[in-house]
Amino acid sequence: MDDLLRNELPYRTLRHNIRFAHIDGGASHIRASSRQVGDHLRDGHFDIVYVDGEHGYPGVLRDLQISMRVLADGGVLCGDDLEIQAHQLPEGFLAAHRDALDAVIPGTTTGFHPGVTAAVGELFGPIEEHGGFWSVRRDGDSFVPANCPPTKVTLPDHVPERLHPYFNQHLAERLTSSSV
Ligand SMILES: C[S@@+](CC[C@H](N)C(=O)[O-])C[C@H]1O[C@@H](n2cnc3c(N)ncnc32)[C@H](O)[C@@H]1O
Repeated sequence: MDDLLRNELPYRTLRHNIRFAHIDGGASHIRASSRQVGDHLRDGHFDIVYVDGEHGYPGVLRDLQISMRVLADGGVLCGDDLEIQAHQLPEGFLAAHRDALDAVIPGTTTGFHPGVTAAVGELFGPIEEHGGFWSVRRDGDSFVPANCPPTKVTLPDHVPERLHPYFNQHLAERLTSSSV
């Protein structure tokens, strides 16, 4: 991913996708670290915040705190990389691995992101999660289940038909399990 970032491919792909997605009203973006822009985003302004940036515990915690502040009442805060939740791990395991970027779920060969698991668990406790995708809804000063089951996933129109089987298989593999 670092190599790709150096040759600008992800940024060019983002701009390509925005152009072909035909989003009503257009789409704007800020190319900067959340460390640089977080303080400048308006409180309670955003209906959806999707977090998929840093994976280290302090970075995830900071991004979630920014997200909670800028989310509008009734809005949904969500993200991915929550392969397992804090309450599902053996006592003491997360505390011992919290500062690692990757770890393996005890008794399995499945990797997970301890920073995401720890920060999400600390701020929200057990939450709705489907195949690593998680969500909460802001309800005043509380965060409640967003009720976003992945019952129907439709691919954006700009994804070419020949790629649909690839995406559908990828999503089917990830979204077979769910837990709350
Ligand atoms: C796991 S990738 C996800 C990329 C994209 N959401 C996707 O699914 O293809 C994380 C991305 O967040 C960027 N990133 C990491 N820390 C960040 C930060 N503090 N602020 C903004 N972006 C960050 C990385 O450069 C990388 O491009």
